[in-house]
Amino acid sequence: MKYYITTPIFYPNSSPHIGTAYTTIAADALARFQRLKGNDVYFLTGTDENAQKIVRTAESKGINPKEYVDGVVERFQELWKLLNISYDDFIRTTEERHHKVVQGIFTRLYEQGDIYKSEYEGWYCTPCETFWTENKLVDGKCPNPDCGREVELLKEESYFFRMSKYQDRLLDHIRKHPEFIQPVSRRNEMIRFVESGLEDLCVSRTTFQWGIQVPFDPKHVVYVWLDALINYIAALGYPEGEKYGHYWPAEVHLMGKDIVRFHAVIWPIILLALDVPLPKVVYGHGWFLSKEGGKISKSRGNVQDSFELIRRYGSDAIRYFLLREMQVGTDGTYSEDALVERLNSDLANDLGNFVSRSLAMLVKYRGGIVPEPGPDTPLEQELRALSLEVKNEVEARMEAFDPAGALEQIWRFVARCNKYVDETAPWSLAKQVGQEQRLNTVLYYFVEEIRILNILCAPFMPGLSPKISRLIGRNTGAWEEAGRWGLTAPGTKVEKGEPLFPRVDILQLIDGEDKAMEFEPIKEEVSIEDFAKLDFRVAKVVKAEKVEKTDKLLKLEMEIAGEVRTVVSGIAQHYAPEDLIGRKVVVVANLKPAKLRGIMSQGMILAASHGDTLEVLMLDKNLPGGARVK
Ligand code: MSP
Repeated sequence: MKYYITTPIFYPNSSPHIGTAYTTIAADALARFQRLKGNDVYFLTGTDENAQKIVRTAESKGINPKEYVDGVVERFQELWKLLNISYDDFIRTTEERHHKVVQGIFTRLYEQGDIYKSEYEGWYCTPCETFWTENKLVDGKCPNPDCGREVELLKEESYFFRMSKYQDRLLDHIRKHPEFIQPVSRRNEMIRFVESGLEDLCVSRTTFQWGIQVPFDPKHVVYVWLDALINYIAALGYPEGEKYGHYWPAEVHLMGKDIVRFHAVIWPIILLALDVPLPKVVYGHGWFLSKEGGKISKSRGNVQDSFELIRRYGSDAIRYFLLREMQVGTDGTYSEDALVERLNSDLANDLGNFVSRSLAMLVKYRGGIVPEPGPDTPLEQELRALSLEVKNEVEARMEAFDPAGALEQIWRFVARCNKYVDETAPWSLAKQVGQEQRLNTVLYYFVEEIRILNILCAPFMPGLSPKISRLIGRNTGAWEEAGRWGLTAPGTKVEKGEPLFPRVDILQLIDGEDKAMEFEPIKEEVSIEDFAKLDFRVAKVVKAEKVEKTDKLLKLEMEIAGEVRTVVSGIAQHYAPEDLIGRKVVVVANLKPAKLRGIMSQGMILAASHGDTLEVLMLDKNLPGGARVK
């Protein structure tokens, strides 16, 4: 069976964070589960690049939007790689293949009378990329409860999409297909929204040029949401592409609750107008909130660097935590403490410990060779029955887009496996005469439990599978094999290996930081004349990129008094290139040039460091590149 699953396409106006990563990790777990079941999966993600907010961000950094998004998109792709995201395609809305489809659809809707030209007068919220009528505003600001920011009055010639014409057909579809909008709370919200009456949607802009041109009226660019939603079929090569014929309609569009409205109202109406079948499910999960309560988001300044978190805890632990914490229909809470807590209890203690202690016993009592099992007892029968029940429950939860529920079930089995170790007490069987066969059975069951757990956990923690497979000398196997017992061949060699999830001691982390608090001694005194020999200047970074084949170096091009210089700096582990572009740093401008990795570096930028932390000195007001620093 084919299974087409999508994430929203992300705005590349800042690096991805834990909140944005959640949707992609959840989609990945669902995609991997369906693949293990043998289904023909197509998993799409990408970036939404034609938004006005992208232009604003790029402008504020003094660079052109394309250059800016190229850098951020690279960060998204790097993060997805580290998080083991198994997407089949990554679509960027600046790509030609996307432009072509959007222009084709816009023209068709215009020709069939569903898009018409008129004049728009109303309010626009750039952070939300949403139009609002005056009566919807709250205290003159954006009515989106998560936003509340300033809106701008727009008065421009615009194209409009006749949403109202399709309102009844949409309601009819929603009513006839209770599975279309999930979970049910979002469905009810959407029904109320559509029932309250749809206005025609303004679908073009004339006040900026970044975006997809309306082909028959090039002073207009297509409104970003109309453009973005089309990615789901553009990536498949709509209207004629083979993939489109095969994979459309999508089994599920996965997203956060804030954008369900666009997917459950605007998108189906576009499809109805095109006479294209609707996606089967639009699923809106909750948000990750910080401990203090607000949504994790760049604009609230409560995001932690995702790359740093992966470095500290590993990608499997982060995936596990996020998937486990987001319960259906509610928001999840993210904090580093809670992450460490789950890592230590569920992963290191429950799962990791079970695997290492049971394999250690196999090594100790049978030299690491899986024995032929003796007869079962009711204990083994109960264990088998539970594993089947758990497998079925996991399937049901995954079909219902509920990875948290699925993990909860798997951990019921993990708990049962740990209990089985205590109940069977192999250490005491090993001491008793005549219990060899019983010990063989117990040790054989240990390996089988690990084999089954390896399959059950694979969609959630793909980094773990090869590790467990190595320990038990067997590849993960198909999903269906988690429902069978006795697949391990006696005689197979197993290893104890290293702990799968070393415990993280948060106190030790803090201790580590304490040690780093020792300061370097202050250097020998110099004269003011010696100091005056150094020429420090303000420099504006105009270009930044990683130096190939290094982890630490960035190549920066910076403007100093009208001259552009190249400086190579060892700060790549602390700054993403796009975080530096447009910023003003301080450079030692008269340092003798030196070659680093074949690149001539003409100066050195100043940065402060302490322990593992490093911060580049930056200026944030009006001084131009070239100004003297003394
Ligand atoms: N570009 C649009 C989507 C277009 S889809 C045709 C967009 N992009 S976004 O980058 O702002 O957000 C993408 C997704 O990330 C949304 O589903 C949003 O809900 C999700 N999240 C952003 N912050 C989040 C949390 N703190 N928690 C969970 N999900 C969050 O919207």
